[in-house]
Amino acid sequence: MSRRHFAVVKLANKGKTNKKTLPACRLPGGRIIKFAFTGLNRFDLWRGLLKIPMSNGKKRLKFMIEKARPYQQLAILYDTVMEHVNYKQWARYVLALIDKYGAGKQTVCDLACGTGSLLPYLAGRKRRVVGCDLSLSMLRRAKEKFSGQNVPLICADFRAVPLTESVCDAAVILYDSINYLHSGEEILNLFGEAARILKPGGVLVFDAVLPYVCREVFDGYEDVRFLSSDLGYRRQSWFDRQEGVQYNRFQIYANGQVFEELHRQRIWTLSEWREIIEKNRSLNLQAIHGDFTFRNVRPKSERAHFVLRKPGNSA
Ligand SMILES: C[S@@+](CC[C@H](N)C(=O)[O-])C[C@H]1O[C@@H](n2cnc3c(N)ncnc32)[C@H](O)[C@@H]1O
Repeated sequence: MSRRHFAVVKLANKGKTNKKTLPACRLPGGRIIKFAFTGLNRFDLWRGLLKIPMSNGKKRLKFMIEKARPYQQLAILYDTVMEHVNYKQWARYVLALIDKYGAGKQTVCDLACGTGSLLPYLAGRKRRVVGCDLSLSMLRRAKEKFSGQNVPLICADFRAVPLTESVCDAAVILYDSINYLHSGEEILNLFGEAARILKPGGVLVFDAVLPYVCREVFDGYEDVRFLSSDLGYRRQSWFDRQEGVQYNRFQIYANGQVFEELHRQRIWTLSEWREIIEKNRSLNLQAIHGDFTFRNVRPKSERAHFVLRKPGNSA
């Protein structure tokens, strides 16, 4: 390996170093080298060193990594990343929570619907669903899935939803979507907005992972997947215990380009959650269930589901 090749590889990598997950590469002759920079994996490295042409026929010696907003590029691979999730069962569980604590479920709004995987399972013969999400790229994928079906999709922040007052029997925010809010104040704003769109007696159901799972499972987690030589992703995850923040860095390889998205999610302890919920004046806490059961959550639960209810009974 010549000095020039190193220079080429280094040029494109001005990011921070995450020593835990340094990419390694075995050179001819068996020597293993580790690279003290992020942004490259073995795949990139060999492509660069061997000067393998990209799909557009150009030789790519520099690896330009473009920064993207969360889900802007990941949207194309999101359903692949989530292949392991059983949305049908999840919807069944959430509808059971709404039945148990709510006053009805004729209109359900998924306030962070993403690519809409949950929507068909939430919908029913007599149940209308509405999908809302902040990311237009995610909603575009959802729209492709529901073309020809009457599923309203809204691009909005879940703290300012363009729906009139008291229209929903239930609102849901699932798969750690609420963790994109980083302060108690932002969560209180969200509760206020949910209370506005819910009918009296309506419920808000949201889920969250707890610090135990982030420490045990997602700190140091790494995942690489390619659907073809030019479409794939690499995820590196770590949990900052002091900040209480789960980081997921995705490198997305698509159409001969490499994009990077850094996702930051605030992970609250159960007592922090209780403290925030107690401060809110618009919704009453009904339950915090753990592990997709109706049992009370524990600090080591894999996932917590929170149910909050708007006071009153719908007419
Ligand atoms: C992990 S994905 C979950 C998507 C979907 N609930 C699922 O289970 O597949 C998180 C979603 O939350 C959305 N999101 C994050 N912050 C949001 C906000 N302030 N308002 C609305 N959606 C938001 C993101 O755009 C993303 O689609």
